Amino acid sequence: MPDNAILRQKMMAAMDEETMQQAQTVSKEFAKLIVYYKCAMLEVQTRFTVLNEAYILEHGRAPVSSIKTRLKTIPSIREKMKRRSIPFSLEAMEEGLNDIAGVRVICAFPEDVNTMANTFLQQDDVVLLRKKDYITNPKPNGYRSLHLIIAIPVHLADGKRMTKVEIQIRTIAMDFWASLEHQLRYKRANEFTEEMAQELYECAQLSAALDNRMDHLRRSVHKYNNPTDGT
Ligand code: GTP
Ligand code: MG
Repeated sequence: MPDNAILRQKMMAAMDEETMQQAQTVSKEFAKLIVYYKCAMLEVQTRFTVLNEAYILEHGRAPVSSIKTRLKTIPSIREKMKRRSIPFSLEAMEEGLNDIAGVRVICAFPEDVNTMANTFLQQDDVVLLRKKDYITNPKPNGYRSLHLIIAIPVHLADGKRMTKVEIQIRTIAMDFWASLEHQLRYKRANEFTEEMAQELYECAQLSAALDNRMDHLRRSVHKYNNPTDGT
């Protein structure tokens, strides 16, 4: 028998019945919780898809360009809890981590970011837990995006459970900059010199200027084609 199999057998023998049951229950509960997060993520994705369709019907253009979803992996959950000194329990995980389920909504114009956020937050079963507006107040490195931490009910066979989802809403230009900056930084493994950081910051300013010009153009086109419309 290989060494690790013998070790495993010894460990199993050392565990009493209760401990074994507890270990099984915890992992079952953990798996169940992850399914809740996955369902909440899919629910949020569907709701933004529906809002987009409704907007297209009303206005003839799509405010949402794409939606991305991601569920944090178990090693990544463990790593973050360790890094933040959160005890490894289900309650602590639910309380301490906001980004197990993530949804990124990429919008066409800056105005669409606010329209989509506001119409989504008006839904009466959506609870806003935290809002970070990095568009009005960009991060010092130039990062722009609207972040919402919300809770949404997930309905399963054994009842309803409010589940947290991190939503990032941004324009194509904001996403372009954030995606490339993330690649260059590669999870904080790469360091930037002062000049590199400055260059990235200037690129962020360029992307913000592009958003403003495109938004201005959108308004001009609308006004030109709807001269009697006051907006
Ligand atoms: P975590 O970092 O997720 O633990 O949460 P926080 O509360 O410190 O974060 P915040 O809301 O500021 O950012 C959460 C997420 O936004 C990150 O995981 C990234 O996906 C994104 N984000 C924040 N800042 C930057 C940035 O400077 N560059 C890029 N590319 N993404 C960022
Ligand atoms: Mg995160």
